[in-house]
Amino acid sequence: MESRLCIPTNRICQTTSSKKRRQALPSIFACCRAMDDRGANGKASRLRQFLPKRYAYQFTLRQTLFGEIACAIDMKHNRRVAIKISSKDRRFFKGGEDPCAEAKIFRLFAKTLARSASESSVESQKGAIPSGDMDGRWHPNIIRYYGASEDSEKIWTAMEFAHRGELLDHITNSPDSRLSEDEASRIIGQVSQGLAFCHSNRIAHLDISPENVLLTRGWTAKICDFGLAKRMNSKGIVIKPHYTGKANYMAPEAYAASNRNRSGVADAGQAKKGIKFAGAPADVFSLGIVMFLCITGVLPYQYPTKSDRRYTLVTGGRKALGGLLKRWGIAVSAEAKDLLASMLHAEPSKRATIDDILHHPWILSGQESEARANVQPPTPKSPATPVSSTSSLRSY
Ligand SMILES: Nc1ncnc2c1ncn2[C@@H]1O[C@H](COP(=O)(O)OP(=O)(O)OP(=O)(O)O)[C@@H](O)[C@H]1O
Ligand SMILES: [Mg+2]
Repeated sequence: MESRLCIPTNRICQTTSSKKRRQALPSIFACCRAMDDRGANGKASRLRQFLPKRYAYQFTLRQTLFGEIACAIDMKHNRRVAIKISSKDRRFFKGGEDPCAEAKIFRLFAKTLARSASESSVESQKGAIPSGDMDGRWHPNIIRYYGASEDSEKIWTAMEFAHRGELLDHITNSPDSRLSEDEASRIIGQVSQGLAFCHSNRIAHLDISPENVLLTRGWTAKICDFGLAKRMNSKGIVIKPHYTGKANYMAPEAYAASNRNRSGVADAGQAKKGIKFAGAPADVFSLGIVMFLCITGVLPYQYPTKSDRRYTLVTGGRKALGGLLKRWGIAVSAEAKDLLASMLHAEPSKRATIDDILHHPWILSGQESEARANVQPPTPKSPATPVSSTSSLRSY
């Protein structure tokens, strides 16, 4: 029992279950790797052929399960963008994923925002002159969508380029591979705002992880990757055709519903029926694990099942969680422990809601310290730095 309670040695492991699945899909990735090699060498990339002319390919950011993500310059708007290209080949979507799901969700967000912009401009027409720059409207904590297009083989989605990359990398590159509580609370608060927007549009993200939270040049946290997101019904329930997601971050009810065994193989019969659970509490749980990772530098367990005693303690309320952290020698503030325990409640109906999170003192204190930092007088200018040849990139 003692040894089963030890601190996980894989302090931050690369958690993507997709890695395993990728290995099972050699052909498309062989093709992507070829694209990547050519891109990385600065030679012609095949990806170039798929991009509309207005985008100048720069380099491949990441290979994904169904394609890749490239960094490009949008020459029309003179800005750097990320372009996700996915194959629409149904052979790669045995898990029931929809290759166009992400673009559909971005379009839905764009529609909602355009509608609310036109409503508010009708309101304002009654009095003042409408300003109504609908193009400028987007939620600050969702990666900005610029457009999508598809042909019979592929779909590509253009979005804002997040200069500081994944939250996971930021955590691993921080001292002790963890963030200060101030910084973590600011980030978790921002992701909660983004999730509140998704849930208000009846979208559950279902893949919240530090790989899917990106950081902008100004350190704003933005949610990306809506590839596994699902529309909730009027009762907030999602029905997924198949198990997908990362076990380390998954809510126990989502994991249990998938009837996955420890070797990671989903039950075929169950998969056919589809799995049902409430979407918003499942996102809250995943965000709780992200918060745990941010402030401790540790992923608490591998699978959300009672057979792992660490899971039982992490989800067993404040006292049990506090005891585990003490045993691991990790100091965490009382407020952080309180919020973590409420987000990681095993029972979805007893879990904190996004609204509870946004009003929790730990989150509010992060916002206050951010506001204080913003009103600090600017630091004296550092000695003039020579203008480098890359300074022109700053306009993107
Ligand atoms: N807009 C962006 N700006 C910067 N980096 C990005 C952007 N979009 C994606 N990335 C990088 O590419 C990675 C994969 O993107 P995304 O999560 O959308 O794809 P995915 O479908 O999850 O891929 P995977 O097969 O790895 O699960 C991100 O984790 C991030 O590192
Ligand atoms: Mg992802």
